[in-house]
Amino acid sequence: MLGELDISLEKAGELKQKPADDNLGFGQHFSDHMFLMEWSRKQGWNNARICPYHKFEMDPASTVLHYGQAIFEGLKAYRGKDDQVFLFRPEDNFTRMNEGAVRMSMPRIPVDKVMQALKALLYLDREWIPKVEGASLYIRPTLIGVDQYLGLKPADQYLFYIILCPVGAYYAEGFNPTKIFVSTDYVRAVKGGVGHVKTAGNYAASLLASEEAKKAGYTQVLWLDACERKYIEEVGTSNIFFVLGDQVITPPLGGSILPGITRDSVLKLVSSWGYQVEERPVSIDEILESAADGRLKESFATGTAAVISPVGELFYNNQTHLINKGVTGGLSQRLFDELQAIQNGEQEDSFKWTVRVG
Ligand code: COI
Repeated sequence: MLGELDISLEKAGELKQKPADDNLGFGQHFSDHMFLMEWSRKQGWNNARICPYHKFEMDPASTVLHYGQAIFEGLKAYRGKDDQVFLFRPEDNFTRMNEGAVRMSMPRIPVDKVMQALKALLYLDREWIPKVEGASLYIRPTLIGVDQYLGLKPADQYLFYIILCPVGAYYAEGFNPTKIFVSTDYVRAVKGGVGHVKTAGNYAASLLASEEAKKAGYTQVLWLDACERKYIEEVGTSNIFFVLGDQVITPPLGGSILPGITRDSVLKLVSSWGYQVEERPVSIDEILESAADGRLKESFATGTAAVISPVGELFYNNQTHLINKGVTGGLSQRLFDELQAIQNGEQEDSFKWTVRVG
């Protein structure tokens, strides 16, 4: 047992070969251990354990495989000076996961216990936290329904687990302007649905559009609203921002877009820097008109995996529209530098976002 936690610990007999920190890519390597716990309607959460990373044996009838009861989170651990390890707003991720669990008729996770388990897991696998600048340890908490039952109802049994994955930049472009395809054929989510939940099906539903965009030479898709195909929602797996004159604008959280933690951090940072910030509906026409008349200064996407990703070009209805001449804007660069410095513990954290774990 680990202290008073009632979390058992089984260490891996043999440790894996670690990849080189300067060539990690995203999502390809997994650390030596994982955290796992089970939930049943009778017992609640039980059998919490840190154990060697391993494959699951699953019943082919498992609820998650048929009816998609699956939600996940993405957060990162950073190695700062003197080998100190930091997490960035981890409780916000687990709170968001619990909000998603309610929408998906799944059990809520005990945030305090999961935080303690995560810290213990990170301590055990601390050598997996990359040492090079720009790389980090991506943390993927996941909750799935695992009943052996084909009738449609919320599962009676669930698995919650956390796996760890050393990562570099999410996009091949790194921190360089991306080319974005505005989708007019497909939509991502509708209000009243589950667009605000980090649930697996949202990502599956986005794949065809993003594959088509990639084939046409674009990094990602910009989603428009499902009703009028007029208002901007998200870009790929990230939230989107525009700098119009002195204003920083992002679409409001209305139920169809993800309440990003990086989005919230950017809103707070730019307000504290004196920018006028607006969360309001923004149409694709407004953006293209302001790109043409020079009011649109820059645009960037925000997310845990990609952090800040400048947008250099939008392709809409067979026309290309350059943003900031296709180069990274000053605010994108400032936000990227500032967020990284806070996350690595190099910059004063006046918002109290970072949690030191070692
Ligand atoms: C994240 O930004 O953490 C995500 O979950 C996006 C994922 C597709 C990598």
